[in-house]
Amino acid sequence: MAHEPHQPPNLDFAGTTPYEDYVQADVLTHLQHPLSDDPGEMVFLVTTQVMELWFTVIVHEWQTAAQALRRDDLPVAMAALKRSTYELESLNASWKPLAHLTPAQFNAYRSALGEGSGFQSAMYRRLEFLLGEKSASMLVPHRGAPRVHAELEKALQEPSLYDEALAFLARRGHAVPAAVRERDLSQRYDPDPGVERVWQEIYAAADQDREEVRLGEALIEVAELVWRWRNDHLVATRRAMGAKSGTGGSAGVAWLEKRATKNVFPELWTARSHV
Ligand code: HEM
Repeated sequence: MAHEPHQPPNLDFAGTTPYEDYVQADVLTHLQHPLSDDPGEMVFLVTTQVMELWFTVIVHEWQTAAQALRRDDLPVAMAALKRSTYELESLNASWKPLAHLTPAQFNAYRSALGEGSGFQSAMYRRLEFLLGEKSASMLVPHRGAPRVHAELEKALQEPSLYDEALAFLARRGHAVPAAVRERDLSQRYDPDPGVERVWQEIYAAADQDREEVRLGEALIEVAELVWRWRNDHLVATRRAMGAKSGTGGSAGVAWLEKRATKNVFPELWTARSHV
């Protein structure tokens, strides 16, 4: 039924509002427990929580894409990958409030963090596993959290998004080597010359509008945005703490630098030199 333009929204609900029932904003906005008295800690904590939420959405999209590729449903896979690129842009934009910390500003709450570090983020680890960056040792920090550990264990054994993309190409007649198709899925994906040739042939084809090229471009967009997240994190860290070691016990910037130079979906990058 059409309402009059001056009709205000409903105010009267028997229990909690339907908005609250759906969003659980009351839960969400009471999960902020800073560990210091520093007024600057709140945005550090909330930015971290916001990023955890984006990781969760992106993991969901890539799982959707991987499962769709498994059933050769390219439109559903492409739609999920496309959504994930917009979400990655939002994730990356959330660095803004933390990108300009001085060492003194960061020090004001750093010691309160103890040994806490984003390195211990299980959702980030699932994201890395989906990209092919598998590692059983990354489960160790989560031994004490059964649900998280079980989810990570499952993700470790499952094909990554890239494994599914390569299996999809193989079913389409591309010469993805058997050693890659039958690899131990719990191991980190290593670049393979045969896969590089597959992408090279796809990209060398006259038809740049073919589905395989569009899939490759969707994946490289993801790879570029992941690289940007890692680099924005690296630069924010360099500004906030220079070359000090990390709260998680690593060498800090030097360790992050090594991780940030790695390219996701490696052959999609190297194949370009041969087209
Ligand atoms: C300016 C603030 C930040 C600084 C100085 C910083 C510093 C560091 C350092 C030094 C490491 C290496 C591990 C260690 O020894 O702790 C690390 C890892 C990590 N941080 Fe941050 N971080 C910051 C903000 C964030 C935020 C907001 C997130 C969002 C969740 C985050 C997520 C991560 C993740 C996921 C890793 C592991 C990366 C990997 O495994 O390759 N960091 N961080």
